Amino acid sequence: MKVALVGATGPVGQRFVSLLDGHPFFELAELFASGRSAGKRYFEAANWVLEVPMPEFVKDMKVKFIDEPVESQVVFSALPADVAMDYEASLKNQGKFVFTNASAHRMDDDVPIVVPEVNPDHLEIVSREGFIVANPNCTTAGLVIPLKAIQDAFGLKSVIVVSMQALSGAGFPGVPSLSIVDNLIPHIKNEEAKVRRESRKILGKLKDGKIEQADFTIDARCTRVPVRDGHTEVVFVQTAKPASAEEVIEVFENFSGVPQEMNLPTAPANPIVVRRNQFSPQPFFERMNGGGMSVTVGNVREADIMGITFTLVSHNTIRGAAGGSILNAELAFKIGVL
Ligand SMILES: NC(=O)c1ccc[n+]([C@@H]2O[C@H](COP(=O)([O-])OP(=O)(O)OC[C@H]3O[C@@H](n4cnc5c(N)ncnc54)[C@H](OP(=O)(O)O)[C@@H]3O)[C@@H](O)[C@H]2O)c1
Repeated sequence: MKVALVGATGPVGQRFVSLLDGHPFFELAELFASGRSAGKRYFEAANWVLEVPMPEFVKDMKVKFIDEPVESQVVFSALPADVAMDYEASLKNQGKFVFTNASAHRMDDDVPIVVPEVNPDHLEIVSREGFIVANPNCTTAGLVIPLKAIQDAFGLKSVIVVSMQALSGAGFPGVPSLSIVDNLIPHIKNEEAKVRRESRKILGKLKDGKIEQADFTIDARCTRVPVRDGHTEVVFVQTAKPASAEEVIEVFENFSGVPQEMNLPTAPANPIVVRRNQFSPQPFFERMNGGGMSVTVGNVREADIMGITFTLVSHNTIRGAAGGSILNAELAFKIGVL
């Protein structure tokens, strides 16, 4: 299938370009961005920030202005939320199938936030006459995978998470260097509320065609740290049934989902990689596990006040953005939603 990419030039757009190079289901046929990039060839428009080279196929492709017509039926979106609000709604009304990274529509009743290992059934609510499927905010994307494993095995009562988020999560040019070198920023605007509400929607149940929020409580503190890629999160979980650290580790190690059963191209063999080491996971070493799609968990132990605590690392522009969105589209393609 030919696909379009809107917001093609930012760090998330670049991940899409890289992950769609030679993709077995999708051919990247159209690129869109702002007036700053429109009319330029991709290599002139994009400030390439990835650790892998720009794919050859995209270098000479012309970037179009987002007001130009989109020909492809399937559209991946990496637009800022304010631009995505009306634009994605208009694509949906034109009958397009939109897979978005933007937060604009995530909490709409007819928009599922899908993580295929966690809630593939939520795809059922979309209309074949045009839809938006979101993937979560990058911090939530890594968090809900181990939470799903715990929810299924022991039940969830409450969750506290503190994130240490990478610079690429702030887009390009992102955080000024003088604000972040030799420093960290102890708050990220709107991020904590997103983690709270998106986690409960994703881990909620589908009932009579509607998504019911899960009933555990969750709070988050989100910080920005001078790491290039890969969000680290320290998590405390109070389970409904008692669980030892060993039991939780076993549940993490055995966790698998629909993308693994279906052998989807972007699915990692192990959605959760476990390190039995108190100094792991570290983003520099673990972010590319499973091609950037695995969540790596370490330092799992029983906590004095909350039940279980662990640390995770998840790649924010792969599992947390472009890779997550492509996995959603692969699932939709395989089950005949596209
Ligand atoms: N970075 C992450 O880790 C991450 C993770 C999850 C979700 N997200 C979300 O994914 C989206 C993209 O993130 P990003 O980090 O790549 O953002 P970014 O660096 O701000 O890039 C945004 C893209 O949108 C285009 N754009 C900006 N304003 C536009 C306008 N008025 N009209 C048309 N195009 C416009 C830009 O084109 P020009 O280059 O031409 O200006 C660029 O291609 C955001 O909604 C973000 O919140 C990001």
